[in-house]
Amino acid sequence: MQYRPIGIFDSGFGGLTVLKEIERIIPQYDYLYFGDNARAPYGSRSFEAVYAYTLEAVRWLFDQGCHLVILACNTASAKALRTIQQNDLPRLAPEKRVLGVIRPVTEMVGKMTRSRHIGILATAGTVASQSYVIEIKKHFPEVNVTQEACPMWVPLVENNEFDSDGADYFVRQHIHRLFSADRLIDTVVLGCTHYPLLENKISRFLSSGITLVSQGIIVAKSLADYLLRHPEIAARCSTLGRRDFYSSETPEVFERSAVLFYGRSLSCRKMG
Ligand code: DGL
Repeated sequence: MQYRPIGIFDSGFGGLTVLKEIERIIPQYDYLYFGDNARAPYGSRSFEAVYAYTLEAVRWLFDQGCHLVILACNTASAKALRTIQQNDLPRLAPEKRVLGVIRPVTEMVGKMTRSRHIGILATAGTVASQSYVIEIKKHFPEVNVTQEACPMWVPLVENNEFDSDGADYFVRQHIHRLFSADRLIDTVVLGCTHYPLLENKISRFLSSGITLVSQGIIVAKSLADYLLRHPEIAARCSTLGRRDFYSSETPEVFERSAVLFYGRSLSCRKMG
């Protein structure tokens, strides 16, 4: 069988939280993970930079044999996915597919809220793009969406401070701001792939009855469903259960922190 893994791309480690959930549901496929750690974080970068870096990553994953690539990064999904799908794919590889992590969540979340008020916690870049607001409104026009950018949360996670007392301050601050902006929110989306590591802490600052939505499992189910609905794409993804990990940083740096996100140790190679 020809090696044609499903490409999983993130600016760094966060996409591993998505891959972990995807593997639980459809472990039979081959997955090639690429983390652009040398240029992370993407959250505070311009549209132009995120688009250029993401397109470079997608092209590289195509060169490795991927026919399907998941942008397992909210910032890349928000700032680069649409342009890549509409402008680049038809020219580069019309038979290949690139999917993101925002759409699957926005299709679900409107069915979860009872108050019709949703809160989004994400990077500054994702918030500025308005992608969550636009996509949720497309499916659920009557729902109110309030966003809160949490620029300190990715550095806290990356520096292994997500469980520390110091992190409490920043988590409490953003939860407080979100609910001060809209007290009727009953459903909160973790719109960044790093945030599942802060989930326990975030839950402690939420009132009871608030639903916290982590995107990994939703993205995983949506991908499994996509492959069932598109057998022609599924047939172009190999199924040897193989895993490969690449980073633009030195492998040792990636391997050291990856275990926090992936839940087990892994072996990484340098991209390029
Ligand atoms: N993975 C990114 C996301 O989901 C967060 C990290 C970054 O800012 O690069 O938005």
